[in-house]
Amino acid sequence: MTALTVAGCGGSDDASSGGDAGGPSGGKIVMGFSQVGAESGWRTANTKSVQESAKEAGVELKFSDAQQKQENQIKAIRSFIQQKVSVIAFSPVVESGWDTVLKEARTAKIPVILTDRAVDSPDTSLYKTFLGSDFVEEGKKAGQWLVDQYKDGKDPVNIVQLEGTTGSAPANDRKSGFQEIISADPKFKIVASQTGDFTRAKGKEVMDAFLKSTPKIDVLYAHNDDMALGAIEAIEGAGKVPGKDIKIISVDAVHDGMQALADGKINYIVECSPLLGPQLMDLAKKVVNGEQVPPRVVTEETTFTQDQAKQALPNRKY
Ligand code: AHR
Repeated sequence: MTALTVAGCGGSDDASSGGDAGGPSGGKIVMGFSQVGAESGWRTANTKSVQESAKEAGVELKFSDAQQKQENQIKAIRSFIQQKVSVIAFSPVVESGWDTVLKEARTAKIPVILTDRAVDSPDTSLYKTFLGSDFVEEGKKAGQWLVDQYKDGKDPVNIVQLEGTTGSAPANDRKSGFQEIISADPKFKIVASQTGDFTRAKGKEVMDAFLKSTPKIDVLYAHNDDMALGAIEAIEGAGKVPGKDIKIISVDAVHDGMQALADGKINYIVECSPLLGPQLMDLAKKVVNGEQVPPRVVTEETTFTQDQAKQALPNRKY
């Protein structure tokens, strides 16, 4: 089943229905947006940011939820091309396999903006710009915290890793950035590493399996908060104390993750901001009007310790 789930915002709510194109001629800008899915708190906040920003910017949004399937994203992009939207934006579920559909968009003269996640195509003329986080840097920040925490010890540090969706840019890059930093000291050992698909349910399931198969786990590195939160349930279920018996590092800093950090169940979170909507609308207006935009726009982000989470929580927007 490859159903295309579509939710509207300020216009047609069906990616397969007809729509009027806008753009340089001064008409309303119509953006076709293909979202990965609704797999995490981060994704929900990102969808809200895009939908609200489109409304504020007067951009008609044709929103399509791919349910974490690349084939659904390709269908949605083809549908946006048929409808002659002014601009296509999408967050690619995986990095590879986009060249054909992106060439179709280029032939139709519809500009494409990558948002949140990258594609691995060497042909950067297939898209106008890429707006999103530096995921390698996020992995490095996670690794650096760990190195600092254990700088005085000599004993081996056994790490289990919950990876994001296989083949996705954040999973690939958060893994390599982390590995680069910890590999400077051989006492850090990744003893098990498996995908939890960025979801809470899978995070719990895989952590359950790690706890059964791996006798000594010192640290969990989860590629997002949702998987860390699922893993916390597994750790507590196994009679261990998350944050103490097993130290936990994760990425995102969504509200539930920050609460667990403030409660001492997570030890450190690297922020990945989902609030990309305003910048996306700004870039969309520029590319539709034929203005120059930078090829890469990197999101500004920070990190949180447990004390910093307690302070930040009351004003957190997501
Ligand atoms: O691409 C961003 C990642 O996707 C977030 O870190 C994760 O929570 C989401 O599912």
